[in-house]
Amino acid sequence: MYNFDGMMDRRRLNAIKATPQHTLQLDCIPLWIADMDFPAAKEIHNALMQRMNIPNYGYTLCTDSYYEAVTGWMQRRHAWDVKHDWVLTTPGVIPAMAFAVRSIVKPGEKVMIQPPVYPQFARMIQLNGAELVTNPLKLVNGRYEIDFEDFALKAQDPALKLCFLCNPHNPVGRVWSRDDLKRLADICLENDVIIFSDDIHHDFVYGPNPYIPIASLSEEVSQITITATAPSKTFSLASFKMGNIIIQNEALRKAYNVAINSVGCTSLDVGAIEATIAGYTYGEQWLQAVIQYLEQNNALIDSYIAAKMPMVKTVALEGTYLKWLDFRALGMNNSELESWSLTQAKVWLSEGYTFGVEGSGFKRLNMASSRSVIQEALERMERAIHALS
Ligand SMILES: Cc1ncc(COP(=O)(O)O)c(C=O)c1O
Repeated sequence: MYNFDGMMDRRRLNAIKATPQHTLQLDCIPLWIADMDFPAAKEIHNALMQRMNIPNYGYTLCTDSYYEAVTGWMQRRHAWDVKHDWVLTTPGVIPAMAFAVRSIVKPGEKVMIQPPVYPQFARMIQLNGAELVTNPLKLVNGRYEIDFEDFALKAQDPALKLCFLCNPHNPVGRVWSRDDLKRLADICLENDVIIFSDDIHHDFVYGPNPYIPIASLSEEVSQITITATAPSKTFSLASFKMGNIIIQNEALRKAYNVAINSVGCTSLDVGAIEATIAGYTYGEQWLQAVIQYLEQNNALIDSYIAAKMPMVKTVALEGTYLKWLDFRALGMNNSELESWSLTQAKVWLSEGYTFGVEGSGFKRLNMASSRSVIQEALERMERAIHALS
């Protein structure tokens, strides 16, 4: 019923993912930015076509049907009962990070992150006037874990007001367990630290670990949590700029709303509204099919690498469609590894060091592309690795 094997010419569409930014990337297979190559669900396409056919694109309200679609999805897919009035909209999740910093942290106060992690965390914290504190993840027997001792120590600093959590975690692919989330939330509760949980990848979870919104742990935890969600990753709609930010605590929500209003982000664009409603209302079957396809891509990558280039280590993927690959055994520094990838292997991946120094020697491969493209990228990497010896 769904076919994800075909490839659109996305360079023709000026897709950021497919458009080289310098000459070295010209003949490379682009598997970097977290953006799927698959065509959007036909239900979303149809809804957009219907609305866009009406030539009036003025300021548009998010009505009850919008909020029902958002809260219905959280209830159905993630067993979380979100009330309509807890939801604020933002033009994306990156701005939502900035609003969290602006509404909670005064100049000179601190925000904690867990690198290697999505680079915009550090950028949004620092560009919005806060001091960055890192609580690096630990790689234990091929699996990343939170360093709770370090987290608890740093949380005691009275200047630490906010912590950014990424669940599922980009780039390391962990889906944090109930126990992880509870330990982290307990430390935050003890030390009056607010949690900003970026859950944008929450619809991509594989295997037995379910995604658990940290705010759903308890009323107490919900009161100190801002949860950022969006249908953009789920349904490949990133250019529409959409975020649904869930905040139960009224005082926190009011302050957050001031931050949104202070930069005039008071409404969503009509495409974002239509696409959100259509995706959350009719997109479930399409999403299931995408997840199945991604599971097969994941299996292909793991088995290919294990069989043909075992010096590259894969980190087991629990969530997201982003594979975190360990190239440290090749013995190259970051710039040698980047250059090898672009000029020898001819694959354009996200460089591990961009996620923090903890990512040195790693690369992130976006596996949300057609199987033949993934296969070709693996073959290119294998050839380039063998050419090294
Ligand atoms: C963890 C995480 N948060 C946020 C974003 C981007 O959010 P948006 O495009 O809605 O600003 C990404 C994109 O890759 C991401 O991985």
